[in-house]
Amino acid sequence: MFDFFYDFLIKIGYMHPPHSPLTHMPIGLVVGALILRLTAVFSDRASLARAAFYCLVLALVFAVPTALLGIMDWQHYYSGAWVFPIKVKIALAVLLVILLALGVILGWRGNAESKPFLAICLLSFFAVMGLGYFGGELVLAPRLSHPPSQKYQAGAKIYTSFCAACHPNGGNTFDASLPVRGSRHLKDFDDFASFVGHPHKHDGSPPIMPAFPPEKISVKQMRELYQYAVFAFETPRGGVSQKEKPGGVKNNHK
Ligand code: HEC
Repeated sequence: MFDFFYDFLIKIGYMHPPHSPLTHMPIGLVVGALILRLTAVFSDRASLARAAFYCLVLALVFAVPTALLGIMDWQHYYSGAWVFPIKVKIALAVLLVILLALGVILGWRGNAESKPFLAICLLSFFAVMGLGYFGGELVLAPRLSHPPSQKYQAGAKIYTSFCAACHPNGGNTFDASLPVRGSRHLKDFDDFASFVGHPHKHDGSPPIMPAFPPEKISVKQMRELYQYAVFAFETPRGGVSQKEKPGGVKNNHK
């Protein structure tokens, strides 16, 4: 739906999910609010508690676009799949917005020095830390176990962007019995491209895996992705070495 937005970002050379950098705004402001409010406890200065209140107001303002971009990234990179860290992040984001709204109401009424306001600063802090942790889980868990050589980097990038959330290290978080690693769809490029373009289940039931038609992954990118997948996951776990063979990958259909 927002492909034009992501296409534009790629055009200007920005390849990361735009949600990640924006998260620093609410996170920083919540951390600032907590520090200011805690300092107010010891220094007995009402202006510090007031400053904490302003931080929470700004955190709430920035939480809105941050959450919206998070939802867009989730749709774009994971096709809206309910992977576990996403569920936790959505729950924590809802909790955070409620906490921030409560904090803003309290502060608005001049209760920024109250204990409940301090509790809200603390709880918001834990909520943003949790959000950061599970965001890291999404970005880092699929990290490739061995960095690919130059030859496979383009394919590895596509894999990390579009596949690794559900297939970390060639596995399958939804159905462990159907990993990419060792899959029969790696035997032949055309078969691979046709499966990834129109995933199907062997029993005909609706697939969980989203389709990646050429508008999403071009034919050239599909080839790069295939070469990487064969290099990294052709052999089942515990099989023979997956190290690059001197003759290159077989079936690379150049
Ligand atoms: C939202 C999660 C998700 C994403 C994203 C995803 N897959 Fe899948 N994939 C699955 C699931 C689940 C299956 C098992 C079939 C099904 O239920 O759809 C599967 C099956 C497969 C299989 C067949 C395994 C077998 O031998 O039966 C291959 C190959 C595969 N995926 C490759 C990819 C590639 C390449 C990408 C990235 C372009 C990708 N997948 C993105 C969830 C995902």
